[in-house]
Amino acid sequence: MEAPADGLDLGDLRRVTPVSREWGYDRGGPIDRRYIEPFLERHASDIAGAVLEVQEPDYSRRFGAGRVTRSDVVDLDPANPRATLVSDLRAAANIPSDTYDCVILTQTIHVIDDMPAVAAEVARILKPGGVLLATLPAASRVCVEYGEDGDFWRVTAAGARAVFARAFPHDHLEIESLGNVLVNAAFMFGLGAGELTPDEYGFSDPYYPALITVRARKPRPPAVAGILLYHRVADSTGSDVHRPWHYHPDRAQTQPPPAACVLRRCRA
Ligand SMILES: C[S@@+](CC[C@H](N)C(=O)[O-])C[C@H]1O[C@@H](n2cnc3c(N)ncnc32)[C@H](O)[C@@H]1O
Repeated sequence: MEAPADGLDLGDLRRVTPVSREWGYDRGGPIDRRYIEPFLERHASDIAGAVLEVQEPDYSRRFGAGRVTRSDVVDLDPANPRATLVSDLRAAANIPSDTYDCVILTQTIHVIDDMPAVAAEVARILKPGGVLLATLPAASRVCVEYGEDGDFWRVTAAGARAVFARAFPHDHLEIESLGNVLVNAAFMFGLGAGELTPDEYGFSDPYYPALITVRARKPRPPAVAGILLYHRVADSTGSDVHRPWHYHPDRAQTQPPPAACVLRRCRA
């Protein structure tokens, strides 16, 4: 096959093995953290109250300083000395529902076979109004070190939306796609974070995502305990009376109130 006429020089990257297999740690730090950490910084105000992080509490401390009142660390691995909770996020029966204001799951869900189960469990253990901050690789080398079944998935923005929309309402989901072809190539070759410029990180090409970020908020129950509708109707004497119509959440969604009615909200 003939080389294309532009004569592109692959230079040092004309090789079939990476420059390093150490995720960039031996060259100044991993490239994907240049997206993960600014994402958490942008949403630092969510990292408050009771916070659950996986594997270690580093990001809860770094981005939630002063706001975090309870910091838990979960891991499936009972040998993790930093874990305060040993649990399987696919079925975390030992974590009560409505416990956390924030769950931080960076670079974790893709190493778990059942991503929808994790999304459902996180939605369950978040308090109403609580927030999940998650990141997933769209492309990266495979973590074979975790064993044969240690690294399952890479996702696109659409894939992340499909997984998390099963557990969170669509309008409570914010999904971003970050990266470009250069970031992906550099990360695959094992280059270090400092080997790319801020401008190179700053260009996001949806055709070549490197990282997907997910911010998902658990809905709060409606702020009203009940709504009484007083339906203005004519009685047998011809005079107007108000007859109460009791609010029922399911009925309210499917059946709009009659045109001539007055809404009265009762606070919880
Ligand atoms: C790749 S590490 C990433 C975590 C880290 N905080 C980060 O930002 O890179 C994934 C962690 O998830 C844990 N893990 C894997 N499967 C799990 C599961 N089903 N439930 C809970 N933790 C799990 C692993 O033991 C490991 O500590």
